[in-house]
Amino acid sequence: MCGIVGYIGEKEALPILINGLKALEYRGYDSAGVAVFSKNGIREKKTVGQVEVLEKAVGDDVDFKGNLGIAHTRWATHGAPSEANAHPHSDCSRRVFLVHNGIIENYKELKNYLSERGHIFKSETDTESVAHLIEDFLEEGKDFKTALIDTLKMIRGAYALAIADAKNPEILYAAKLSSPLVIGVGKDENFLASDPSAVIGNTRDFIYLKDGELAEITRDKINISNLEKQPTPIEIVRLEWNLEQAQKGDFPHFMLKEIFEGPEIVRFAFRGRIISKENRVMLGGLEQVSDKIKKIKRLIILACGTSYYAGLVGEYLFEEIAKLPTEVHFASEFRYREEPFDEGTAVLAISQSGETADTLAALRKAKEKGLLTLGIVNTVGSTIARETNAGVYNHAGPEIGVASTKAFLSQITILVLMAIYLSKSNDKDSLTESLLKELEKIPEKIEKILLQAPAIEKLALKYKDCGNFLFIGRRYNYPTALEGALKLKEVSYIHAEGYGAGEMKHGPLAMISPDFPTMAIVPQNGVSEKIYSNLEEIKARKGPILAIATEGDKKISSLANDVIYIPKTIEPLEPLLTVVPLQLFAYYAGVNRGFNVDKPRNLAKSVTVE
Ligand code: AGP
Ligand code: GLU
Repeated sequence: MCGIVGYIGEKEALPILINGLKALEYRGYDSAGVAVFSKNGIREKKTVGQVEVLEKAVGDDVDFKGNLGIAHTRWATHGAPSEANAHPHSDCSRRVFLVHNGIIENYKELKNYLSERGHIFKSETDTESVAHLIEDFLEEGKDFKTALIDTLKMIRGAYALAIADAKNPEILYAAKLSSPLVIGVGKDENFLASDPSAVIGNTRDFIYLKDGELAEITRDKINISNLEKQPTPIEIVRLEWNLEQAQKGDFPHFMLKEIFEGPEIVRFAFRGRIISKENRVMLGGLEQVSDKIKKIKRLIILACGTSYYAGLVGEYLFEEIAKLPTEVHFASEFRYREEPFDEGTAVLAISQSGETADTLAALRKAKEKGLLTLGIVNTVGSTIARETNAGVYNHAGPEIGVASTKAFLSQITILVLMAIYLSKSNDKDSLTESLLKELEKIPEKIEKILLQAPAIEKLALKYKDCGNFLFIGRRYNYPTALEGALKLKEVSYIHAEGYGAGEMKHGPLAMISPDFPTMAIVPQNGVSEKIYSNLEEIKARKGPILAIATEGDKKISSLANDVIYIPKTIEPLEPLLTVVPLQLFAYYAGVNRGFNVDKPRNLAKSVTVE
């Protein structure tokens, strides 16, 4: 997610804008920019990299003195990180200046339409089309507010927008749909921000803009309306947060915030990528190598940690959906493999940070062998993203908690899309149809699971003092068991092991005793009966059992001591649901054992050393 800051009032805008961007740095970004309404008109400056680079570039430039301004930290989705693609963006006549958070899904259609009407684009972004569309309506003689409303009615996707009109230094406009945007209410001054943390030092009074609302903001007046120009009620909320609390919002930890972002993260991963009426998937980042992709005969997935476990789910997905032979390697081990790579072998690197040294080393080895290299990366412009031949971005926004949670959900979602994309079956394939239909229902099913957080915390309290934990699952839920064990280890320091349930008789059963609990992932599917048998064996040895089971499962309560019920879904998508209770369980166990779950001991968020 990016950061937006706006100011209008009696003070100098620039320091407020720059400090606001710094407070939003936790959201992650790759470039930044600012525009200030000076006595010589609107001045702008945009730079790649940290906010301090922008701050230095603006320096003491006298032209950046003014009482109205907008600023932005960009989390690139369309167009690589560059000065030209950084925000603010403006129109041809440089009257409209705006910054944007979100994705304009129909930007290509808009760019084509506007180019035919003579507009010249200066960037590769989706955002710039909004500035030109406003200008186009202005050229039809509409007033600024009407031109803006007509623009908002034409664009599809997600937006938080802060907009300045070079012909009017007395007003800031704002509009919101899906992406967050708040108005900070001051005395003879008002603010705009992606979240309160950007300006909490200037005011504690905020108006949370709602979807479909448009705000006209002067230094002493705020009008809010819908897109039919009907005024909407204004509710001012007083926040007693400090800065870090503002960044976490209502959550005590980033990890919990990121678990609760799960539904939105899955939507961000598939937004604009499912072409339902054609029963297919569009992954723009792979188009450039589409001819090579058609020739892939074998796929090697390389990753570490949670990303590796996502890759194991991907192995099942690619083999079931795309009928593509797939194998997964710890990147740290792949580098020692000297296997011959035959024609048609491709590599897929999965990395949230895009900077993991082991994954980068393995990727470079694959490139030396001349293999096609693909990526699933969250951090735009990161090294792994830049060094693969092509890839797909998660659009999950930065993940602050060291323990990866939302990134796992995003990676699984994109692996599903990629498996469909790589599938050579025709578009009428019924599996594709059921996957795409069900995938769009997953966010609401995750929301249903999140409502059980208090009950899951109670279970974590019950089991938090166990010295060991076994996690078991089969097929798609075998990697989920491994991931659940990693989560518990990472944030609660309880020793936990994940196993394929079928392995119980081959050793792990020896560990089972009354003080050695098992977390069984056993949604209703083709392998449930086999796991029930595993649970009988564990129960016979008095091992405590917690189960993740499907709503309506009549059998599980006779086997397990405790059950967390989740909605039914189709088997390839199960990890998107079964992992959520495991993330919450680990979080509450860690917190109730008194640990800092956002920064677990000995761990780093991005392992950039081998
Ligand atoms: C997962 O919770 C850990 N933070 C860690 O295992 C992480 O998944 C691993 O270091 C890989 O990181 P990456 O996805 O950024 O490459
Ligand atoms: N989609 C816009 C871009 O790529 C905005 C991204 C953001 O939210 O920062 O520039």
